[in-house]
Amino acid sequence: MRVTLKIWRQPDAATAGAMHTYELDTVSPDMSFLEMLDVLNEQLNAAGEEPIAFDSDCREGICGMCGLMINGEPHGPEVTTTCQLHMRSFKDGDEITIEPWRSDAFPVVRDLCVDRGAFDRIIQSGGFISVNTGSAPEAHSIQVPKEAADRAFDAATCIGCGACVAACPNGSASLFMGAKITHLGELPQGQAERDNRVVSMVSQHDHEGFGGCTNIGECTAACPKEIPLDVISQMNRDLRKALQHGH
Ligand code: SF4
Ligand code: FES
Repeated sequence: MRVTLKIWRQPDAATAGAMHTYELDTVSPDMSFLEMLDVLNEQLNAAGEEPIAFDSDCREGICGMCGLMINGEPHGPEVTTTCQLHMRSFKDGDEITIEPWRSDAFPVVRDLCVDRGAFDRIIQSGGFISVNTGSAPEAHSIQVPKEAADRAFDAATCIGCGACVAACPNGSASLFMGAKITHLGELPQGQAERDNRVVSMVSQHDHEGFGGCTNIGECTAACPKEIPLDVISQMNRDLRKALQHGH
């Protein structure tokens, strides 16, 4: 396959960026999207040019490190992560635009890499439990209703990739936060800090410069883990209750 790539290049956060065009004619449909970028980088290296900076780690769809805006869609045209997207999703002769996540709360570090430290700081503000659970308990010693366990498990599949923020016209991280709050709020171990958690996380979210949710739903459509929109309702219910409790 031959593809034309229009890629955002930006040396650092302080310098203006621009789209650059590259032609690649050695693309196999079986390559992953990131392998295709590896091939381009090998060519740039061989020509003595700066390779394109982009993030990845597991390349198995589980770590949340990768994330590119591909033809204007977070993670591209399929419901998957950028690392699990394959070139068979494109056609010979296609032109593909590749940009970093666009959000004030995710400043560009270099080329396609953005700083998602804001997510870490939201988690540090309350996305944890601090009860001492001791060593691994016997599986049935703390009973959790099946429905709650399933909902917690589904919410826990959020990998923190940031596609929801990139997709949202308001730049809101509500789907990410709703996933974390639902995950912990459905489980007995998450109850002690439930009120504090939601108040702290929402406050940190707003402090980081993310926007508010207006129920547009682009986040859930872009989410590679199909986190449902109603985790945001659960977060809002938890917030209302916490405020009623005087937090
Ligand atoms: S909710 Fe989905 S899109 Fe948002 S960070 Fe989690 S996995 Fe990524
Ligand atoms: S590199 Fe880990 S999810 Fe894509």
